[in-house]
Parts: sequence; C-alpha cells; structure tokens
Amino acid sequence: MATRTQLRKVELSARIGTEVRIDADALLSGEHGAEIRSLLEDRRVVLFRELNLTDEQQSAFTQTLGAMAQGIFKISMDPNENPLFAYTKGAFFWHIDGTMSDVPIFASIMSCRRRSPVGGQTEFANTYAAFDDLPPSEQAALEKLRVVHMFETSQRYVNPEPAYADLQDWQRFAPAVLPLVWKHRSGRKSLVLGSTASHVEGMDLREGWALLTRLREHATQPQFVYSHEWTVGDLVMWDNTGTMHRVLAYPHDSGRLMHRTTLQGDEPFA
Ligand code: OGA
Ligand code: MN
Repeated sequence: MATRTQLRKVELSARIGTEVRIDADALLSGEHGAEIRSLLEDRRVVLFRELNLTDEQQSAFTQTLGAMAQGIFKISMDPNENPLFAYTKGAFFWHIDGTMSDVPIFASIMSCRRRSPVGGQTEFANTYAAFDDLPPSEQAALEKLRVVHMFETSQRYVNPEPAYADLQDWQRFAPAVLPLVWKHRSGRKSLVLGSTASHVEGMDLREGWALLTRLREHATQPQFVYSHEWTVGDLVMWDNTGTMHRVLAYPHDSGRLMHRTTLQGDEPFA
C-alpha cells in the first residue's frame, strides 16, 4: 500500500479550531479530503497558514472535500471589486450564512489576498459547544422554540433607518422559521442564532429578544471562539452548520480582499 503523508495538526484552542500543516501539493492530491472534512466536523474551523493557493488551486482543493456550491467569490468593501459591498458590512455581526435557505451551505473556504492594516480579523464561535454547556433543563426548554429569521433584520444592523425602496429590496427574501436548536443527523445539537434572528415565534417580543441576546452572549464567550489574525496566503475553512462567524470592523478603503469558495450543504435546519 502506498504510504500517505501524515497530516500534522495543532489545536488552536481547546473547544474550536485546528491548524493543519501540509504543503499545497499534498493538499491538492486529494488523498486527505475525507480526513480534512471529518476534522472540520470535529473542530469546526481548520486553518492552513500561508498556503498561497491560486484561484484554480482553491477551487480544486474545495472539490476534494465535496460538491462545490459556489466558485471563487471576492469579498471586499471596495465598490470596484464588489458591487454588493453594502451587504458585506452585515458580516460585522455574528451570523450563520444562508439562514434564508432551506439547506444552508455546509462550509466556506476563505483565503486572504490582501489584509486590512486595522481590524479585519475573522471570528468563529462553536455553536455545538455553546449548546452542550447549557444546563439540561434549559436545553430541553430551548428545543421547543422556533425563531423567525429575516434578511431585513440583519440589514438593519448596518442601515437602521432605511429608505422604503431599500426595505422593499430586503423584503424580497421570505422570512424563515427555524428551530432554535438544530438536531443534526449525528444526534448532536447546536444553537441557531445570529443577526438574521428577528424574534422567537409565539413569545412576547421583549422576552424573546432577551433570550436571543442572552444566548448570543453565552455562545460567543472566549472559550467557544477562535479569532483569526490574517496573514496574506492563509486559508481558513469553517463548518457553517456548527458555527457563527463575524469579521471585526475594517475601513472600506483598507484594500482587504478575500477569495471564498463554498461547499454544498446536505442537511436542512431541523
Ligand atoms: C462570509 C463572511 C467574513 C470575512 O464570507 O460569509 O462572513 O472575514 N466573511 O470577510
Ligand atoms: Mn458570512
């Protein structure tokens, strides 16, 4: 049997994140695809420092892990680079990608092409670990609740007094009613929170907001969070079904540029 190169792994923190040390050729061979995917499900965030992949290599690597949902997408606040730059600001607040879709993407893979001299760190919070640490009686109560998610709720964070035309634009997305506790196929459970969460279905509004705020504060405590300080060429992937993420604010003219690919999801919120 052919000898395989071993993945060298270093934990970034106890509850979330592993750095993998491997060269680009070994990574692109695909021989570690299944192992990296299961490491991602186990550790939620996987980091490769200074890999410096080209766009073609990043797409090829993505496809060693599963079906690619979206090829290279550029994340930037420069209007010349990204016509949807206004929406990019929504990422400054804790969120899960794709809460408006029935089946959210499984994972994102993001590489740093240019960094911001200030801010721009990306942070990830482990929503499985946050659920696991709640008292069993509270877990049982939360499992009965459903939360209404709306695109407009996330947009109000960055544009609190929108023009009517903006609001109509945001409301093109139908609201989604999602369980507060995601029961995964594996049997494990995670919290579904983030900036699209509008209110708890059937609960007094203020009581629901208090609950969502308290849970967000709980889930983003330091022991559940990995914060990545970018170096150009770094590649970070995250399990979008078991984390929330945000980017710390950076100036729109910082030059920060990230290239992202995504993996198709196969698990509805349930
Ligand atoms: C995203 C996102 C954060 C960042 O791509 O979905 O939230 O650090 N990106 O740019
Ligand atoms: Mn995002």
